[in-house]
Amino acid sequence: MKSLSRREFLTRSAILGAGAYPAMLALNLLPAAPAHAFDLEGSGKGKHILILGAGLAGMTSAYELSKLGYRCTILEAQTRTGGRCWSVRDGAITSETTNPVQTARFDSGLYFNAGPSRIPHHHQLTMHYCRELGVPLEVYNNVNESTYFFAEGQGPLSHQKVRAREVHNDMRGYTSELLAKAVDGGKIDTALSKEDAAKVIEYLRAEGGLDIDKLYKASARRGYLEPPGAGEKTGKISNPHKLADIISSGLLDPDFYNVAEYTYELQMTMFQAVGGMDSIAKALEKKVAGSLKLGATITSIQNQTEGVTVTYKDKQGTHQLTADLCICTLPLPVLSNLEHNFSSDVSRAIDFVPYIQTGKIGLQFKRRFWEEDEQIFGGITHTNNELTQIFYPSNNYLGKKGILIGYYNFNDKARKVGELSYAEREKLALEKGALIHPQYPKEFEGSFSVSWHKLPHSLGGWAVYSAEDRKTHYQALLKPEKNVYFAGEHMTYLTAWMAGAFESARSVVAQVHSRLSEGRMQYPTVSTSSN
Ligand code: ALA
Repeated sequence: MKSLSRREFLTRSAILGAGAYPAMLALNLLPAAPAHAFDLEGSGKGKHILILGAGLAGMTSAYELSKLGYRCTILEAQTRTGGRCWSVRDGAITSETTNPVQTARFDSGLYFNAGPSRIPHHHQLTMHYCRELGVPLEVYNNVNESTYFFAEGQGPLSHQKVRAREVHNDMRGYTSELLAKAVDGGKIDTALSKEDAAKVIEYLRAEGGLDIDKLYKASARRGYLEPPGAGEKTGKISNPHKLADIISSGLLDPDFYNVAEYTYELQMTMFQAVGGMDSIAKALEKKVAGSLKLGATITSIQNQTEGVTVTYKDKQGTHQLTADLCICTLPLPVLSNLEHNFSSDVSRAIDFVPYIQTGKIGLQFKRRFWEEDEQIFGGITHTNNELTQIFYPSNNYLGKKGILIGYYNFNDKARKVGELSYAEREKLALEKGALIHPQYPKEFEGSFSVSWHKLPHSLGGWAVYSAEDRKTHYQALLKPEKNVYFAGEHMTYLTAWMAGAFESARSVVAQVHSRLSEGRMQYPTVSTSSN
């Protein structure tokens, strides 16, 4: 760290105009701290901020600005808060752009998370707000070796469920064997010393479960045909699948790539909010209740020379509100349908940034057969058909009933399934799901499906930027559009995560407060992972 003179220190601290902690962070005088309360200094008294959208970004912005004394008004078209942070319970309602009203009929106490369902342990800001707002978390079991791979198509392993542990361990075994042989035979130029090559081979033997001859053979890692038990019951180990069979059955195709479970975001430990992810939204809602106007559909956003005027409709009629500044958290496809007087660059960005098509269906079953019959406690089954994934609940283990996520799909598959009626989606989920779990027809009780790209208040799952879009459209949205600031997961490199909503909220709150209090604070204050 470069040393600072006393004069330099005082000057730079004064310029920052922020609280001591952020100032010291900015000056690199403190090590990066864990995510902490957003303790900005100064007052926003007498200033009015209009916030569009009562999702996590909008409510967090209001929460933080209110702490500073700003008057906030949040306009929300829906009659509930949370936006995409939504848990579907009995009585939940949607109506999609091409489908009529759908009402959830689930048993009381059961739910599924239609939007975010998992929190990476390193999303510090999400974890922080759960702590600050008193939302209890529990472990979300994202990775489970007991779940299945199910491939439709050709090959001896297709059209049957294969435990993840079989494929994972077989492939770990075969790839380790291939590599160990290559290193051992000097067939690849590893630039390794003899001693190091020997170490690599020993590592591969351990990793792949290879025998003394460096061959992959039967091992308990991939499970038992008959489990071990008392007395003479030694357990019968199953034989590996043939590599050629795994390949010809499609189990090495991208649909089954294991990376889905070990990307940085999806590495265990993951968390979920106890009682439904919307507990986070509900906790924020309590903090900002006085600022909320629900059922207020925005029709126009107009920058004025001073301030911003927003027109909205509710049951009483059409209204206009003018405020000093506006924070707009509406998803871009929704914003694209509103009247505004934004610049052409911003307008283009709003119209052209694509959002993912994605859908989920919750299926209530009267018995947790995946636990009772198949020893699956949480985790994800993967398929190459329209279902893509089945998510098993990570709560209420050993309970009586439960809701599975019967599919969670993206892009083309989500588009096709989204075109179906609710009844057709249910039929598809049940038919395809029964190929894996024949218990489905006997135990099924009810469903509720969500196609995010068909919900009028989201019109997509999350923003998907190309590298080019990040240089153009994203940059246009990052700057305030006169008196309007944009926030939401789409204003971050944490798209598709609640952390994006929190991070962007802090970022615009700092910008707004800096402008109105004539301070010069920046957010993030240092380049540390505070997401
Ligand atoms: N964050 C989203 C998920 O967990 C994409 O599936």
